[in-house]
Amino acid sequence: MRINDIFKLAVDMGIKADFRGQEGVADFLESKKKKYEKLSEEDRQYFDKDSLTNPYSDSKIHNVADNREIKKIMMGIDIDSAEILLAKYLGDIDLVIGHHPIGKSLANLADVMSLQCDVLNYYGLPINIAEGLMRQRIEEVARGVNPINHQRGVDAAKIMGINLMNIHTPADNLAAKFLKMKVDAAKPKKVEDVIKLLKEIPEYKEASKIGTGPKIFAGSSENRCGKIALTEITGGTEGSPKLYEKMANVGIGTVVGMHINEEHKKEAEAANLNVVIAGHMSSDSLGMNLFADELERQGVKIVPCSGFTRASRI
Ligand SMILES: [Fe+2]
Repeated sequence: MRINDIFKLAVDMGIKADFRGQEGVADFLESKKKKYEKLSEEDRQYFDKDSLTNPYSDSKIHNVADNREIKKIMMGIDIDSAEILLAKYLGDIDLVIGHHPIGKSLANLADVMSLQCDVLNYYGLPINIAEGLMRQRIEEVARGVNPINHQRGVDAAKIMGINLMNIHTPADNLAAKFLKMKVDAAKPKKVEDVIKLLKEIPEYKEASKIGTGPKIFAGSSENRCGKIALTEITGGTEGSPKLYEKMANVGIGTVVGMHINEEHKKEAEAANLNVVIAGHMSSDSLGMNLFADELERQGVKIVPCSGFTRASRI
């Protein structure tokens, strides 16, 4: 496999697992195309043309130093200059794949967040409410990532001659779909049953051993779950705190997420929602593992690093 094949595989897997369905993703790409066509010649040169075919602007190929056959990949959650140096030191790494957005992917993180509107809509929230509340949050995230030193790790890869990409939302989609299928099949009754179910998954079992396993952030173990929503696993980053009240109003009882900040936690508590936080690095590892399994099936070796716990399902 070459770098482009690996990237395409990730995007295709991400689309297959996407809450919007293939049609929803096609609609999203179509609206991008329309936006592009309306631009002036001057503005078109700054438009991210990759976004016309890749619906995940937080995932990109950042450096192709040598377009060789990829046999060994170093895969991690956060890739920065240190990991690039590590790859160089190891000497036989053909490609580094990070999870969290870097470079242009980080600058474009807010672009994938509209996916959350569709996820919320899937769980019963009217689309106008989801879009209305997310709009403000998406703008906040776009401003928040603006001052970051986006290119730091990418520059290191260019200097060191290391092939580099990051895969964010496609992997989070895989984790969300995996968890949704587990929850739908097991139909946990109480919040403690959700925790028990998560701890059966290798990534969360390993995380529990180092104190970062699944935890209840709002509600209690004895609470009944009601309707369980996987609204906070994919879609860039945390949504709007104002969503919790609306989610409770449409009959959601428990939210399973990767991570939650204090403001969101307080709003969830005020809405009497249960919040189960599966864990951040562990949930990111789950999504990357499902992608890594496919790469291993095709004969590629994976070297895990930077918080990525490899658990093979092949
Ligand atoms: Fe993450």
